[in-house]
Amino acid sequence: MNLILMGPPGVGKGTQAEYIERKYWIPRISTGEMFRAAARFGTELGLQAKQLMDVGQLVPDDITNGIMRCRLAERDCAKGFLLDGFPRTIAQAEALDSILAEWNKSLDAVINIEVPDDILIVRNCGRRTCSQCGANFHTQFNPPLVENQCDICEGELQQRSDDVEETVVKKLAIYAEQTKPLTDFYAQRGLLININGNQKLEDVFRDIVRSLEKSTTKEV
Ligand code: AP5
Ligand code: MG
Repeated sequence: MNLILMGPPGVGKGTQAEYIERKYWIPRISTGEMFRAAARFGTELGLQAKQLMDVGQLVPDDITNGIMRCRLAERDCAKGFLLDGFPRTIAQAEALDSILAEWNKSLDAVINIEVPDDILIVRNCGRRTCSQCGANFHTQFNPPLVENQCDICEGELQQRSDDVEETVVKKLAIYAEQTKPLTDFYAQRGLLININGNQKLEDVFRDIVRSLEKSTTKEV
């Protein structure tokens, strides 16, 4: 399955992506994670991306499309992929189309998770991420068993540098302006699946699986 997972910052893309990749055995590819890893390694690209991420701006399309083209060429994507946070602009969606067309591939579905903005601010500001394995927690909605410690690998939990209210508000505005138009772009192709993300983690996942099963059955 070739899937896109989209939705505004803090909607639960990363959280649901972990469940989806385990159920369908497809690699999760998160551009945000790739940029954060590059920043940790101190590469030029990473440091440039970090400056933009810290103020809630998007990384330029040519850079993002370039790293995505390389990543999608890797062997683990041969049997499918789950894109988390890419594409985020119409230009990126068009670049993805041409990459997939070159390899005679196409998208199966675009999962769009929806949650009201006021809840997204609370979700982003309370998020804690494992410094070792990247697992996500929330101080209020999904707390770890031991404070500040990852349930999975016991790594230290940290707050992302872009998880401050001022940056989150800016990211939401950029999302509305540059990324939201992609819902029409994919709806016109019959690929869009809207999911209510304002419910328990497991209920969001259940709805995603049901919708994917329905859309796969439709094709048969
Ligand atoms: P990225 O890392 O993709 O960040 P984002 O899109 O802002 O999304 P988040 O990771 O903040 O949220 P999420 O939807 O994954 O939610 P999560 O599951 O963590 O990108 C970061 C930056 O990189 C961008 O701002 C940009 O600068 C750059 N970038 C990335 N891709 C780019 C691209 N294609 N082009 C250009 N620039 C790009 O959940 C959030 C919290 O809520 C967690 O604490 C979680 O535990 C909790 N939670 C999740 N689900 C629920 C639920 N159902 N109920 C209660 N709590 C929940
Ligand atoms: Mg994420």
